[in-house]
Amino acid sequence: MPVISEHGGNIYKITSECGLDHIIDFSANINPLGLPAGVRPALNGYEEALLHYPDPDCIKLKEDLAKRHGITSNQILISNGSIELIYLIPQLIKPEQSLILVPGFSELEKACRLSGSRIKRISLPEASGFCIEVADIIAQLEGIRLVSIINPNNPTGVLFPAAELLSLVAACEKRGIWLIIDEAFLDFTGTAGEYNLINKAAESEKLIVLRSLTKFYALAGLRLGYGVANSKVIAKLAMLKPPWSVNQLAQVVGLAALKDNDYPAESRRLISRERQYLWDALSQDTRLKPYPGAANYLLVRLIGSSLNASQLQKRLLTSGYLIRDCTNFVGLDNSFFRLAVRKPEENQGLIRAIRECLS
Ligand SMILES: Cc1ncc(COP(=O)(O)O)c(C=O)c1O
Repeated sequence: MPVISEHGGNIYKITSECGLDHIIDFSANINPLGLPAGVRPALNGYEEALLHYPDPDCIKLKEDLAKRHGITSNQILISNGSIELIYLIPQLIKPEQSLILVPGFSELEKACRLSGSRIKRISLPEASGFCIEVADIIAQLEGIRLVSIINPNNPTGVLFPAAELLSLVAACEKRGIWLIIDEAFLDFTGTAGEYNLINKAAESEKLIVLRSLTKFYALAGLRLGYGVANSKVIAKLAMLKPPWSVNQLAQVVGLAALKDNDYPAESRRLISRERQYLWDALSQDTRLKPYPGAANYLLVRLIGSSLNASQLQKRLLTSGYLIRDCTNFVGLDNSFFRLAVRKPEENQGLIRAIRECLS
């Protein structure tokens, strides 16, 4: 069964290749609560939204987000998932050389390469739980034009302390280096207020912060994200963006999702409790080594098993569970896999299935 996908979440490919009609997807890190309550009512009469071109400036969504973050609309650019900005930013900056941490979400490197950039990688050491001091990044800035950081990192879940990131921002600004901080999963950590650099990005010369609504609000199929930077940078990025890339349905749904005031806290409570459940269950098994992560997923290593991650993935699929085989992450090998944190009964079912596969 050829089930390797470049990323997690390719349920269409996997269900068709494996002849399954249903899987529980632990391979993509999407909020298990599903759509916020206000979204379905907002879809009543949505046909109207399909008849016209979408608002190319996403005015209402920008105003709403600006108010929430205490910044101005012209410091925000709404995008078709944060991935759209990951590809636009290197086109604007045209870096000769970019600095990337590995293992990490591979699209940041791919987007830089596509814009002609050479890549310098820093390996996050497994021995220290894939943590690195920001001073070690600062020591590697010579000849670099763009640095990309994911906070918390994917797939490790490691969160950089805010004070350290601020020292990286200062070091980059001093040297005229651009810095992208991808906060796609920060909302899940419950530390967003403490760690988010949005306000810093709105006034910085060189910092761009990326946010995703697709993961936290479970809109992965609809695609919605945004970037925050100073208004001049936002205006330049907006010039590069194809018009209408954010469709009207995504704008309407995004606004409705943001209005659900209970959803964020409820999501964080669930994730924190269930991450702990998964962590405890995985840690008890001597053939598995989970790595502590702050996000809605856990990186796990097979240490005393005859199975590798790809074999485990295939076996779990026969029980209807899809995990992320991490073999294709630079800096990891075929002993690593990643699990999204899902609802209690799903997590318990997965743990039972993993134990059966390994026994
Ligand atoms: C770290 C990271 N950033 C950005 C993205 C893209 O997210 P979006 O769905 O907002 O385009 C992903 C998707 O997996 C991701 O892992």
